[in-house]
Amino acid sequence: MKNIGAKIIALDCETAQKIITNDDLTKILDTSDEWISTRTGIKQRRVTDKDKSSTDLGIEASKKVIRRSNFDVNSIDLIIAACSAPEDIYPSVSCLIQKATGAKNSACFDLRGACAGFIYSLNCAYAFIKSGIYKNILIVATDTTTKYTDWSDRSTSVLFGDGAGAVILSAQENDDDIIGVDLLADGACADYITLKIKGKTCPLVEKGTDETKPFIQMKGKDVYKFVMTKIPSEIEELLKKTNTKIENIDYFIPHQSNQRMIDGLSERLGIESQKVISNIKDYGNMSAASILVAIREGIDSNKINLPAKILISAFGAGMTGASAIIKLDKNI
Ligand SMILES: CC(C)(COP(=O)(O)OP(=O)(O)OC[C@H]1O[C@@H](n2cnc3c(N)ncnc32)[C@H](O)[C@@H]1OP(=O)(O)O)[C@@H](O)C(=O)NCCC(=O)NCCS
Repeated sequence: MKNIGAKIIALDCETAQKIITNDDLTKILDTSDEWISTRTGIKQRRVTDKDKSSTDLGIEASKKVIRRSNFDVNSIDLIIAACSAPEDIYPSVSCLIQKATGAKNSACFDLRGACAGFIYSLNCAYAFIKSGIYKNILIVATDTTTKYTDWSDRSTSVLFGDGAGAVILSAQENDDDIIGVDLLADGACADYITLKIKGKTCPLVEKGTDETKPFIQMKGKDVYKFVMTKIPSEIEELLKKTNTKIENIDYFIPHQSNQRMIDGLSERLGIESQKVISNIKDYGNMSAASILVAIREGIDSNKINLPAKILISAFGAGMTGASAIIKLDKNI
């Protein structure tokens, strides 16, 4: 029986163009650069204009990753879009990416794992490859969370930015870049981060139903506590399961949601600061795209030297959590 693994062929990203600094935000909010920087580590974020959507950023990231690897789009047999706040409920973001890239032989679906959506998608793609169902999978993590931000709410609007990342995963005999993945979810904490989009009830059933405003609402302190209590033990479990010593991890790239959480997790796991990759200062929290943008930037700026064994870990609404240990080869 063949030993089939998954190879990470290429990785790329796209971010929104417009930069909004903390000082810019003081024009519309009762806040300060000092408050935002010290509590979150964020100095600026990228925000899409009205003509750009999660799908647009996802398409750009997909085209880049296809170009980078010179990949034959006809051989892509599945597209998974990790997008939790799309502009439309349907058509799916993945179908629109298929149309724009010409990957016409692919099946398509979107996966809503919030900020943990990329690692959830990675595990899903990996299972398809290991089982032999699909050989070449494009994963696109894209979110324009700023479109669902209440810009009068200073406790949430300062945190987010818009971006996308894309990865091509291919079946490979006797090689495997996915060393291990662990997923968790805790629906009991569902009200920690919400984005409610209620439809309208038929007027024959009920008249004058209230319309809810589709904005992110968050219990920041509860999220913080969830992450600091659940994620370190999940990572420790993953290290055990994969027989990996923390000192053999070359880089730790956690979800970019708050520099204090990044520091707290690294400290708790005993990872030296030079191994920790963070770009939250320049981008804020780009939801599912955060880790991929941090990897691409880290490689391009020589903060990440390849080949490398990388620990990635994310968490988000749901609440969801997900961690993975992956190998990245040179020239991705
Ligand atoms: C959001 C977060 C930065 C808030 O920090 P905090 O230390 O918990 O701050 P609090 O919510 O207790 O607010 C403290 C005070 O700052 C104020 N405040 C909140 N946002 C502010 C802002 N942008 N500027 C200035 N003051 C602000 C609050 O109103 C509060 O004032 P009060 O004491 O007069 O009531 C922090 O809880 C956090 O990062 N949580 C995790 C969120 C996250 O990562 N979510 C995404 C997960 S994918």
